[in-house]
Amino acid sequence: MRDLTPDRHSLDPIEIASRDEIVALQFKRLQWTVAHAYENVALYKRKFDAAGVHPDDLKAPEDIAKFPFTTKEDLRQSYPFDMMAVPMDKVARIHASSGTTGKPTVVGYTRADVDNWAHLVARSIRASGGRPGDRIHVAYGYGLFTGGLGAHYGAEALGCTVIPVGGGMTQRQVQLIVDFEPDIIMVTPSYLLAIADEFERQGIDPRSTSLKSGIFGAEPWTNAMRAEIETRFDMHGVDIYGLSEVMGPGVANEAVEEKDGLYIWEDHFLPEIIDPESGAVQADGSEGELVFTSLTKEALPIIRYRTRDLTTLRAGAARSMRRMDKITGRSDDLIILRGVNVFPSQIEEHILKIDGISPHYQIELAKDGPLDSMTVRVEAAPGNEDDDRRAALAALLGENIKQNVGISAAIDVTPVGAVDRSAGKAVRIIDRRED
Ligand code: DLL
Repeated sequence: MRDLTPDRHSLDPIEIASRDEIVALQFKRLQWTVAHAYENVALYKRKFDAAGVHPDDLKAPEDIAKFPFTTKEDLRQSYPFDMMAVPMDKVARIHASSGTTGKPTVVGYTRADVDNWAHLVARSIRASGGRPGDRIHVAYGYGLFTGGLGAHYGAEALGCTVIPVGGGMTQRQVQLIVDFEPDIIMVTPSYLLAIADEFERQGIDPRSTSLKSGIFGAEPWTNAMRAEIETRFDMHGVDIYGLSEVMGPGVANEAVEEKDGLYIWEDHFLPEIIDPESGAVQADGSEGELVFTSLTKEALPIIRYRTRDLTTLRAGAARSMRRMDKITGRSDDLIILRGVNVFPSQIEEHILKIDGISPHYQIELAKDGPLDSMTVRVEAAPGNEDDDRRAALAALLGENIKQNVGISAAIDVTPVGAVDRSAGKAVRIIDRRED
């Protein structure tokens, strides 16, 4: 793989500024944000008043811990536009995240918000090894989901040539990668694997493409998955994180030269880690739930938003901003099986360790009498499909999971193509316990 380390002079000065400078900028912006939210959003006024706090109480950055959290439920109850802090005619863009149940959560952006977002995605692409003039194939979905348009505007802002493909039509993805010769692809890691399979089905070696870096996010993925992708494509696999309530993609991104945690773009977002049970703020270095306060957003300032994502904050290295570890899982995805806590990512790691099975998998939960049971459904890799071979692979995976994760799961190694593919975020857990 090529060395794609960006030239230090091409970075935004704040990326490598002193911590003092970053913290001073954050605090100034934090005071503005908290006042802006209080004065212009009824929900914040109500919540701050009920908690007995006022924007004037923010005398030092740590004082943010006195303010109440915001949750997805707050956004749902404000459906569609009650969280907006500016008149609707100043809202340049709406996005929404599709709730699996109930109403979607709606977010808005002023013109300046859209520009800041584009700038941060451009910064993320540069951190991933992109340069002005690169061709970028965007296979995140376009529409209310923030992935496609977020990537698109960022690539344009960096001065790249954007190829706005969107998700789906996997054969055409392959054709466009071969014919248009992009330098970079932006896509969910699980859909990239479906594209890899299609390359192989067509007899084209994915290692022969023009791609030099892939910017993957919108779902959890392990370092084992990164190794698989980097080997199959001979390109860098870089992690991008974000969520619509806070902005969209580009809240945090790894540095391609490091691939060791994601730099949080702290000039625009203030991260905290809290204990998910008590809500108490944790010191850097301890694992907990990630909470964000936006620092520049005009249309939808967000104060102490509980992401449900679990991670740890650490000091930076290649940049001065703090890093978050790769997300281990969402608290919503935590499976408690017979008293043992398991995240899908722990299962994924063991799937990727075994030659002969593919990385396409789903976890099904069911009731087995009074107890919960788990079935891991995973595809055999091509050439491993006969019954004996699949049974042997299932036994091996089951044993590895038992030894290392500490749970007994039924393993179903299926023929190739039997596990549902998604063109966007993969569905990893199918919960039949309530059926
Ligand atoms: O998924 C925004 C995005 C688009 C990020 C494209 C990266 C690339 P939502 O649909 O609101 O927004 O979903 C946000 O997805 O709270 C995490 O649980 C998960 N997520 C996003 N990026 C990552 C990542 C977009 N790199 C939710 N690793 C978040 C793990 C991620 N989980």
